[in-house]
Amino acid sequence: MAVNDDLIVWEDRYSVGVPFIDDQHKHLVQMTNELYLACFQDSVVAKQYFMRVIHNALDYIKIHFSTEEQLMAKIVYPDLPSHKKDHEDFVHQILMNAKEFEDGSYKAPAVLAKYLKDWIVTHIAITDKKYYYYIRSLKTRSSAGG
Ligand SMILES: [Fe+2]
Repeated sequence: MAVNDDLIVWEDRYSVGVPFIDDQHKHLVQMTNELYLACFQDSVVAKQYFMRVIHNALDYIKIHFSTEEQLMAKIVYPDLPSHKKDHEDFVHQILMNAKEFEDGSYKAPAVLAKYLKDWIVTHIAITDKKYYYYIRSLKTRSSAGG
């Protein structure tokens, strides 16, 4: 992979069929790519960038998770408790990463960029996709009249 390539490219298979959630996920992809590119700047630039974005990213992620959880509650999604736990673990991981960085780990931004990438690929494309199928099954049921 060339240095200037994006770490993640949005793919249609990531879509959960809910446009405002897809928009939030696209924003997460963009933030991850920006963070990744910052890792190739000199360490002072990367450090300043990381300090600036990490708390914004966390705020954004929390808003996104509450949007998703409200949607899942509204549709009485059976996997909501375990999905919520995944979200909590993710926030916890980011907080730990920010702490490591503040404690002087110069590897923390690159570790976080990779973690975000893996998370997007697995959580969005697999775990979030499950509520896509659930919503689709609800629609099929209601259009069948039952
Ligand atoms: Fe999720």
